[in-house]
Amino acid sequence: MNDADNTYNGEKTASQPLEERVNNRSQRPSSEAFKAFMASNWAPSPQVAPERDAVADHAARRRRIISGQFKGERLVVPAGPLKVRSNDCDYRFRPHSGFAHLTGLGLDHEPDAVLIFEPVEEGTGDDGGNHRATLYFRPLAGRDSEQFYADSRSGEFWIGARPTLAEFEARLGLPTAHVDELETAVTKNVGAPEIGGISIRLVRKVDENIDALVDTARYNTAKDPDNLDLGVLDALDEKLSEALSELRLIKDGWEVEQLQTAVAATVEGFAEVVKALPRALTHFRGERVVEGAFFARAREEGNELGYDTIAAAGNNATVLHWTRNTGKIKAGDLLLLDAGVEADSLYTADITRTLPATGTFSDIQRKIYEAVLDAADAGFAAARIGTRFRDIHTAATTVLAERLAEWGLLPVPVAEAISDEGQQHRRWMPHGTSHHLGLDVHDCAQAKRELYLDGVLAEGMVFTIEPGLYFKNEDLGIPEEYRGIGVRIEDDILMTAEGPVNLSAALPRTADDVEAWMAGIWHEANGKA
Ligand code: GLY
Ligand code: MN
Ligand code: MN
Repeated sequence: MNDADNTYNGEKTASQPLEERVNNRSQRPSSEAFKAFMASNWAPSPQVAPERDAVADHAARRRRIISGQFKGERLVVPAGPLKVRSNDCDYRFRPHSGFAHLTGLGLDHEPDAVLIFEPVEEGTGDDGGNHRATLYFRPLAGRDSEQFYADSRSGEFWIGARPTLAEFEARLGLPTAHVDELETAVTKNVGAPEIGGISIRLVRKVDENIDALVDTARYNTAKDPDNLDLGVLDALDEKLSEALSELRLIKDGWEVEQLQTAVAATVEGFAEVVKALPRALTHFRGERVVEGAFFARAREEGNELGYDTIAAAGNNATVLHWTRNTGKIKAGDLLLLDAGVEADSLYTADITRTLPATGTFSDIQRKIYEAVLDAADAGFAAARIGTRFRDIHTAATTVLAERLAEWGLLPVPVAEAISDEGQQHRRWMPHGTSHHLGLDVHDCAQAKRELYLDGVLAEGMVFTIEPGLYFKNEDLGIPEEYRGIGVRIEDDILMTAEGPVNLSAALPRTADDVEAWMAGIWHEANGKA
């Protein structure tokens, strides 16, 4: 197919395979003279001797817990590959959260990496566990290599220096190996335990190449490959994902610090948005002005956004995940801003404030806002060690149902609405009040229901409390004055022995405090401090 003279059905076929044509702008010579010249005369890479990361001991403790749960089995935890955004341009890389948690790696570390727990004799592994863990990744290539200048996805000439094996080993306190050794590490001695083989558990759907590698190894070593029960194998794998999610339900001290860092940067981002609001009000897509102002802070202070910013004015605020942000912000609108900075460690905040775009709530806006605030306060009051996670939601939504009844909007009595058979109030708040927060904005999502929704609140849990009321323009069941108003107030909570601590308390919550805070920022910006 490389031959320009090939023909098929009388038609001339390609002289260059399509997959090689992703980057036709490359004019790189391929002569031996060029290769030799490119490989020569570069300064040696600096030999850094990095210190052990503060997270290393925490990550080791997490791995030890997982090791205790899967004795005798090989565990495969991929970081994931780069993902194509378009043609030869990738999205910024972000590793899978389970991988980040077990290695302590943040930022863009490290595409195609895989953490493997190799089973060893019980009690002889890392920290007296049942496994030895090794991190496989593609390390920095020498400047005399072709990878250095020719690989646009991993070459230093293109993307900057990458970590070496020694660097990560020192930082993480974890043995490292080249990704070229990965295939053997995943597949060796795989087989049924009764015949001396090792069984694997994999965090699936993170890296399809690793899924295929494990599937092939399982198939090739199965006693009866044609009758391999994929359902059983999927269930084995799912248990590992579940365990990694449940491991994150309680945050350690280092994680709490990371969340505090993320929240602090987010608080600054909200203040930047208030500064940008006067310009946003004059712009044909004011919501994007808001989104951009917040994003600038996220990149300056942190790694990224933890999720796409919701910058929703007027009726758009009634769209729960309005991330299009294409709308205008009009004087008198409420702006619902739901945004979170992701720290370099990848822990994210998740905060919502609903702001009067021109600085003052109207009477009806204030009435709705205060109902939501009362619901949030009821959620806080319910958050006590030993109560169930779901009790927060019940407490908050009961307040909302009561208000809706007072306003004559609820078609049934409160008791009927809050019963399982009713739930009419959920027309105006169809989402949950709380979710765990951490490396993922909706953290611990694969945890068992008994430990999540039905779980008991414990010290070290971090979660949101985020009631809202959303009255759509199109809602014919409510008086006109309510329509086009969406309010959510979302805070990030750390559960302590003394009760819930609001990590995002630096942002004002009451309507009066919000107005005063905005006025203060504008006053200062106008040089009248
Ligand atoms: N920002 C998504 C959420 O609040 O859950
Ligand atoms: Mn949330
Ligand atoms: Mn949110």
